[in-house]
Amino acid sequence: MKVAVIGGGGREHALAWKLAQSPTVDSLYAIPGSAAMAEVATCVNIPLSDLDGIAAYCKNEGIDMLVVGPEVPLTEGLADICQKQGLAVFGPNKAAAQMEGSKVFAKNLMKKYHVPTAAYESFTDGEAAKAYIHQQGAPIVVKADGLAAGKGVVVAQTEQEALDAVDAMMKDHIFGASGGRIVVEECMVGEEASLLAFVDGKTIVPMISAQDHKRIFDGDKGPNTGGMGAYAPAPVMTPELVKTVETTILRPVVDGLRSEGITYQGCLYAGLMITADGPKVVEFNCRFGDPETQAVLPLLDGDLAQIMYACTQGTLQADMVSWKQASACCVIMASAGYPASSHKGDVITGLDQVQDAMVFHSGTAEKDGQYVTNGGRVLGVTAVAPTLKEAIAEAYQNVQRIHFDGQQVRSDIGAKGLKHLQ
Ligand code: AMP
Ligand code: GLY
Repeated sequence: MKVAVIGGGGREHALAWKLAQSPTVDSLYAIPGSAAMAEVATCVNIPLSDLDGIAAYCKNEGIDMLVVGPEVPLTEGLADICQKQGLAVFGPNKAAAQMEGSKVFAKNLMKKYHVPTAAYESFTDGEAAKAYIHQQGAPIVVKADGLAAGKGVVVAQTEQEALDAVDAMMKDHIFGASGGRIVVEECMVGEEASLLAFVDGKTIVPMISAQDHKRIFDGDKGPNTGGMGAYAPAPVMTPELVKTVETTILRPVVDGLRSEGITYQGCLYAGLMITADGPKVVEFNCRFGDPETQAVLPLLDGDLAQIMYACTQGTLQADMVSWKQASACCVIMASAGYPASSHKGDVITGLDQVQDAMVFHSGTAEKDGQYVTNGGRVLGVTAVAPTLKEAIAEAYQNVQRIHFDGQQVRSDIGAKGLKHLQ
């Protein structure tokens, strides 16, 4: 099979790395890919915004399956365009990708099909939103409806903060059209976890659970980032909880969408809050998580390309998916200034010293035969070991072998998981 991975970040590097091991993959492409992905795939420089160009290239090249990493091309309809050309695409069509692309859509679907999530109201009128905030009180959460690169959520500790967020989104348009509609919702309390699932339209096979670390500093302090590290499985997600999420969240969402005439096919990512009342949805994503993928895929036994192709054909079976009895920890190394900004061009040393770990490149470029920083999140260093404790230790041992100026690394990735195991 000829497979093309769409995207060029750490998640896509992990997808390409795993697909390259697949016995059913004869050749692997990455659009646009990255210098690091070129080690496992043929990179083709078509911008992600050129949906027709990507479809035409894949059609001409005889690509058997596209695997789409990022959300933006999915919410813009890349899968629909490719499917019209007869191409198999792992990733939801435009209608199904609204689960991530529109918070109002996702919340309304959850309400209709009784999926546990924070109580909410949606607004197109700022004054009505503010009245609701006064009535509910703080803490309260304000979310822009559309995509905002993970920045469209304000968890307001005071009413004033929430009112300011409404103005920022609806009057100052800091997220552009994404903030034309907003959701105001209950602030949930608990520990967060991610459960990703393979979905073929009907059959749902959950992956191993994971936990992200969204804040920049240790102890979950400081501003939100794309994610500073992840580990899998997450002990907070007991096997019973995974079952509960499957039956009360994933199943009603996929079936609910189908009764609305929408087939969800690809990876469905449930961002969860494990509250005193059980697991509730924080958000859905229509794609693999970054950096969850860099922790989850190294634990997958089985043929990722076969699983993904089965999703595209509606022939997914639970026994295609199995997991190593081990743990994985991925520690992100970010560049100076992240998340407010990023620093490009810092030389990365020590990559050749890495032992028993995978290094997935999130934001690097090649310059004069060396890798240099080229984004906010730069590298994800993943170790797999029999226990979480060992996986964490091995990941950090390898992080210490790598260096670039201004590097930012959290020192407590996985610590919450260890607490559960004590
Ligand atoms: P999102 O972009 O929807 O993942 O939200 C970013 C972060 O905001 C989440 O990872 C949570 O930590 C937090 N968050 C979002 N919604 C809520 C909520 N209803 N209650 C508490 N925290 C939330
Ligand atoms: N790790 C969070 C996300 O991928 O959205």
